[in-house]
Amino acid sequence: MRRCCLLFAAAHTVGFAHCGTFTGRIQTAAADPTMDPGYASQLLAACPAGVDPNVALEIDPVTPHAFDNQYFINLQKGMGLLTSDQVLYADARSRPTVDAWAANSSDFEAAFVAAMTSLGRVGVKTDPALGNIRRDCAVLNS
Ligand SMILES: *[C@@H]1O[C@H](CO)[C@@H](O)[C@H](O)[C@H]1NC(C)=O
Repeated sequence: MRRCCLLFAAAHTVGFAHCGTFTGRIQTAAADPTMDPGYASQLLAACPAGVDPNVALEIDPVTPHAFDNQYFINLQKGMGLLTSDQVLYADARSRPTVDAWAANSSDFEAAFVAAMTSLGRVGVKTDPALGNIRRDCAVLNS
């Protein structure tokens, strides 16, 4: 279960996030203490108060265009962009996997391939009588 969440978060190795999704961690007086202070200053410079909400930053600031294990190394350094990223390292249940994948990129890549292969075998529901087929992935149809 945890390993699965980690694998989906790993897609963040090549993603973007809008400033508004993480400014709470950097612009408040009680900035997130789990975040690397240098990284927090960098983010604050890129996303100051009142920034255009369309501005987005790369989630992996080190190797933003490579699909690699840098995302996990960043988490070890307190450089997870979103709270939902950094918590994977803060939580004792997922930290060992973050450490393992930070140490061994092949291990991470093998786990990712296996997960995507399994996901490809999940049957797609096409009959509305069998349940709620969402028009918007984030919410149940009303
Ligand atoms: C890294 O992971 C791969 C794939 O799981 C494994 O075959 C290899 O032995 C690991 N390397 C080290 C140094 O642990």
